[in-house]
Amino acid sequence: MCGIVGAVSTRNIVPLLVQGLQRLEYRGYDSCGVAVHLRDAASAAPATQLRRLRGIARVADLAAQAEAQGLAGGTGIAHTRWATHGAPAVANAHPHVSRGPVPAGMDGEQAAARPARVTLVHNGIIENHDELRAELLARGYFFTSQTDTEVIVHLVDSLYEGDLFAAVQAAVRRLRGSYSLAVLHRDEPQRLVGARAGSPLVLGVGADGKENFLASDAMALAGVTDQIVYLEEGDVVDVQLGKTWVSDRQGQRVTRPVRTVQAMSGAAELGPYRHYMQKEIFEQPRAIADTLEGVEAVVPELFEAAGHHAPGEGAYPTFRQVRQILILACGTSYYAGCVAKYWLEGMAKIPTQVEIASEYRYRDSVPDPDTLVVTITQSGETADTLAALRHAQSLGMRHTLTVCNVATSAMVRECKLAYITRAGIEIGVASTKAFTAQLAGLFLLTLALARARGLLTDEQEAAHLKAMRHLPTALQAVLALEPQIITWAEQFAGKEHALFLGRGLHYPVAQEGALKLKEVTYIHAEAYAAGELKHGPLALVTSSMPVVTVAPNDALLEKLKSNMQEVRARGGVLYVLADADTRIDSGEGLHVIRMPENYGPLSPILHTVPLQLLAYHTAVARGTDVDKPRNLAKSVTVE
Ligand code: M6R
Repeated sequence: MCGIVGAVSTRNIVPLLVQGLQRLEYRGYDSCGVAVHLRDAASAAPATQLRRLRGIARVADLAAQAEAQGLAGGTGIAHTRWATHGAPAVANAHPHVSRGPVPAGMDGEQAAARPARVTLVHNGIIENHDELRAELLARGYFFTSQTDTEVIVHLVDSLYEGDLFAAVQAAVRRLRGSYSLAVLHRDEPQRLVGARAGSPLVLGVGADGKENFLASDAMALAGVTDQIVYLEEGDVVDVQLGKTWVSDRQGQRVTRPVRTVQAMSGAAELGPYRHYMQKEIFEQPRAIADTLEGVEAVVPELFEAAGHHAPGEGAYPTFRQVRQILILACGTSYYAGCVAKYWLEGMAKIPTQVEIASEYRYRDSVPDPDTLVVTITQSGETADTLAALRHAQSLGMRHTLTVCNVATSAMVRECKLAYITRAGIEIGVASTKAFTAQLAGLFLLTLALARARGLLTDEQEAAHLKAMRHLPTALQAVLALEPQIITWAEQFAGKEHALFLGRGLHYPVAQEGALKLKEVTYIHAEAYAAGELKHGPLALVTSSMPVVTVAPNDALLEKLKSNMQEVRARGGVLYVLADADTRIDSGEGLHVIRMPENYGPLSPILHTVPLQLLAYHTAVARGTDVDKPRNLAKSVTVE
């Protein structure tokens, strides 16, 4: 999704802005751009001239263009755009500029040739852009894009009276919706102003007061500064060479803590892998080992969120008090929640409801204050999940816990309790290692709830933890199945439809397998609880539609075998993931891959991996852009 980088420095910041954009590329984008205060070649003083470059190609092409044109300057902003309002086109790419209202009698060409006065980049969606556009048009402003963003730049221009900070403060008061902004004004060449509400923005504090930065994600500043200020809702920030300051929603000057954020640059290296998705699939043993590191017992302290709750609001009293669980999440994280429902109801005996975040927030529900609201999110910035959390809080549900992969995210800041998975930065748009790490975190949550409610003995807890600690080894054995999965992928590459079947705990695993396949291969894939087959989807089965079946050796296996017979009897071709101790053998129309070991309740963590590999290798065979599938973004920070 969209990315922002900005800087004020004594050095030429164009290479740094480009590098920052490259670090954000993985989030997905369809255009990019940069704007700087041009450096005055004749004197040391910065020139009061803004220059921008935009394109619909990759960031590397933008960098080449900037170099060819000798673009250089000490103050600048840059952006990657993922289209929401207006098609992916140069005219809609950021930065947007305002050249002021058009004087009477001036034609469009002359108006567009005037120097830019204000330029800005924006993440988010402005909901009242139609109304603002009408107002600005009436005041003589000339629009050149279809974006909602362009109203902000003209609004700032219209409110500017010699102080960019004051103009941005006044402008954001008029905005409804979500935004993070970085803004420059022609007349203030060593000043950058940022603002955020509903979309993340960080301030990066440079060394020796020589330079300061803004970014939508600290990762963009890796290798530049590790001193990060996470701006809060409604903040406006003034970024200058030797100083920065922040005002809050009420316009009061506030101090936000500076945190040291671990350098993350190494995570962006591909190493021996062809794609990040492949790298991340193979990182799962490490991701699970890190997620479980230091977990010696299922103690409530595993679920503490630093600095967010008063004494007495800790995990243990909450776990004992709550009567039900409401899980809120999107996409892959939602499927992790669906698996967890089986664990939570089966082992902790606590009624659990799993809701798609974007649906929950817009329906009438029956709130119960004794509910533990659990959000699951890799990024911790997904707009729908954050909004669903806030909706639940507004209904009086105050017990909140997140299972999240980013410790510094808005979600962790807004929930009382957190379990931070340590999958590491996930760059591939298709979530892989984050999902299995979420499952590990959710299994621990199940054990902790069962323990707090007197449903787990010491022996049972020890046995579960032992099995969890063996997961990295078990995952290595599953990854070794890759050559067999490549054989399947070669057969899938020519297909246009696929069906995924599972039962019980493994139905959400089948759903996740289908989501992975459609995301990266563009093959239409659907998942069904296998028992549903004869209630409709069986009509689709032909010899040209592969049917992937997740078939662990559990209590539902015999039922699942009957469902497989139903497919075979209609000429369907089965691709079955069976456990080592299952008597299902390959034959005509039946391809079996045997999982190395039967893993009981933790089996979803292992059975997911071959499905990820199947999607990955099928995508490679079809030649799609595996890490940046069309139309998708990594972190969905708009509704
Ligand atoms: O960062 P989150 O876990 O909140 O993201 C939720 C979904 O957007 C995400 O899982 C999405 O479905 C992935 N592309 C799946 O691979």
